[in-house]
Amino acid sequence: MLSRRLTHGTDGLNTGVWPVQMAGLITATEHFFTRSHAPIPSIDVRTWRLEVGGLVERPTQFSLAELTREFPTCEVTATLACAGIRREEFLSLGPLPGELPWGPEPISTGRWSGVSLAAVLQAVGVSSRARHVEFAGLDQVARNGDTFGFGGSIDMVKALQSDVLLAIAVNGAPLARQHGYPLRALVPGWIGARSVKWLGRINLLQEPSANYFQAKAYRSQRHIAKDDPRDVSKGEALTAIPVNSVIVDPVQHAVLRSRLQQVRGWAIGSNGESLRSVEISADGGSSWSRATITLAGEKWTWSFWEGEVRLPPGNHVLAARATDARGATQPATLDESWNVKGYNNNAWHRVPVTVR
Ligand code: MTE
Repeated sequence: MLSRRLTHGTDGLNTGVWPVQMAGLITATEHFFTRSHAPIPSIDVRTWRLEVGGLVERPTQFSLAELTREFPTCEVTATLACAGIRREEFLSLGPLPGELPWGPEPISTGRWSGVSLAAVLQAVGVSSRARHVEFAGLDQVARNGDTFGFGGSIDMVKALQSDVLLAIAVNGAPLARQHGYPLRALVPGWIGARSVKWLGRINLLQEPSANYFQAKAYRSQRHIAKDDPRDVSKGEALTAIPVNSVIVDPVQHAVLRSRLQQVRGWAIGSNGESLRSVEISADGGSSWSRATITLAGEKWTWSFWEGEVRLPPGNHVLAARATDARGATQPATLDESWNVKGYNNNAWHRVPVTVR
């Protein structure tokens, strides 16, 4: 299948390859999506330091060499998905001003390596009052007349999971500049926004981060505030990604010849859950058959599946839905998935096709 890189906006910072590459579980680094809210900062690794402070016993600065020397190398294979994934489908319900119209392309899987955040926190000593770990990026985002680094936080329970990394490399090579060189957070199972790139500081806090991207964006809110329709600060901060699945082949509006059609795609459980089932439908969701998992993922990754449907000539709507081991499943309609900024769309994935 021929893929190409799609670009959202004009600054070249927000891109993704569609159809996503399914040659193997791991996405080749040159096929990763990119999502940056500001230009890539230029960082001189010789002078760069990671500051760890806030509610810690010993505020410390680490050079990259110190991080690699003082802590064991950890590897995690994880799928990174942007919370904006499949937002464009919501546009059939109404406009989403100011939000990038991502399709299903902002998702990639890498073999990340670095050091465990928990090990670094242990080394600096966590105060008993600390409840949240804030990541601050060195990029400069302009919002509402202010300029600040992209940031966000994760709660201490997640932060102490050994799989949460301060990632230095992906797929065997140092992080590329657009993916956060020299160091990024990698929070498996959570929305991509919490995997802060170009890390400059880690701050231990009693409360969640006050950064715009934690307090005012990347929050799920289903009611539109009367005074400011774009404000989601009363919504819930997004954490784990929900169960989701996407039909990758055939693509939207494909014209198909054969009547026995292979359908292929990916699926992922919520927050590292394994999959219980992936089902496909050839009639928009009235009847379903079970797809076969062709490549079972690891704990934090997507899996690939395949199924066959028999299609008479005419127009059809294919659909896919996944259910994870805890029984979480995808909602049938976009209405159920909708929220003010259009995050985490996991409604049944529907793909209209024509058979001649
Ligand atoms: N970190 C910084 N510093 N600045 C950003 O704009 N974007 C976030 C996250 N980390 C972002 C960031 C979002 S929304 C996503 S989905 C992922 O990075 C994308 O990571 P990638 O560009 O390496 O694919």
